[in-house]
Amino acid sequence: MSKLRSQIDVRLEFPALAQEVSGRPLAYLDSAASTQKPNAVLAAMERFYREDNANVHRGVHTLSQRATDAFEAARRTVARFVNAQSEREVVFTKGCTEAINLVAASWGGANLGPGDRVLVSHMEHHADIVPWQLIAQRTGATVEPFPITDSGEVDLASLEAMLAAGRVKLVGVKHVCNALGTVNPVAEIARLAHAHGALVLADGAQALAHVPVDVQALGVDFYAMSAHKVYGPMGVGALYGRAELLEAMPPYQGGGDMIRTVSFEGTTFNDPPNRFEPGTPNVAGAIGFGAALDWVRAVGLGAIAAHESALTAYSSSRLAEVPGLRVVGTAPERIGVFSFVMDAAHPHDVGTVLDRHGVAVRTGHHCCMPLMRRLGVPATTRISLAAYSNEADVDAAVEALHGVRALFT
Ligand code: ALA
Repeated sequence: MSKLRSQIDVRLEFPALAQEVSGRPLAYLDSAASTQKPNAVLAAMERFYREDNANVHRGVHTLSQRATDAFEAARRTVARFVNAQSEREVVFTKGCTEAINLVAASWGGANLGPGDRVLVSHMEHHADIVPWQLIAQRTGATVEPFPITDSGEVDLASLEAMLAAGRVKLVGVKHVCNALGTVNPVAEIARLAHAHGALVLADGAQALAHVPVDVQALGVDFYAMSAHKVYGPMGVGALYGRAELLEAMPPYQGGGDMIRTVSFEGTTFNDPPNRFEPGTPNVAGAIGFGAALDWVRAVGLGAIAAHESALTAYSSSRLAEVPGLRVVGTAPERIGVFSFVMDAAHPHDVGTVLDRHGVAVRTGHHCCMPLMRRLGVPATTRISLAAYSNEADVDAAVEALHGVRALFT
């Protein structure tokens, strides 16, 4: 493990944190929605545009070759970070949402038929549900939720019973729940799914910055990633897919770079991952993604996890001091995410008051409407931590929450 840099050093690497909001130091507690970006990421992207800017895979000139080398190096970085067998198993996408849509449209379009079943957990993000509903409408397959417990954990016995009922082609599950912070037992889910002949797609949006990801140890067939949740830029991410699955999958979108030959008599397609990357890719984004993963490696994921775990315990005890506040989702295996409701005020009011104290949180259904219904709440206020979060952020939130109580009771 890398030597832990002091908390203050890490924080100083994030320029957006050094500002005031509503006349107070910003307490950014919305990292599950998007993390802030360290200087290393900003510099890597700026350097690309200042020095290497050219299209990739398309030119023999020096800048194009430098751009291609940097783009492909970023692919290798992503592959290494999640322990893929080869960088050929990493497809750059716009993010998790596009990665899941790609699998649903391409693999699902080719492999689902009437009566086939896709199971997704009841805590899934809309991006893990809606792409499957869209392809189910076209293929005659069905999309069914598998149950979760009141504490916000997947119910493995119910999942196994649903698998045993037959015809399940794929199980979709978040590695880490964005709304509750639950770390799901993905390896166990993959073992159960494979025992019943189903594939597994894990959504890693919320995992990559917080827990080790080893796609081979997890045993997943597909793994979706978003750079902006792991200190990288928005609008870029990746799909990991097992090589033999990607090789058998038809193109998702057509265009340049995804073909081998084109004629009006017929077109042949490139090998993966290029087959799934038509058009000019987000080269600067991919480079920023690689730089973000390098940054996490340099600080040390173990050190980050230890810091977040200590801060999670601190936050838990501090939030318990606020009368009338109830945390929703209490799974023992969790990252630093607290979704809560307050007797006194609606989450949107809570979020507005907190913003006036310089505290940034997310309020609403967190793109998990079925989960909110399952837990019997219309919406929650969510505090989410990252490597740069500190006790002062949490203290500012708790002080503001006492202010909410005073205002609304
Ligand atoms: N899925 C992101 C969140 O949880 C946007 O806030």
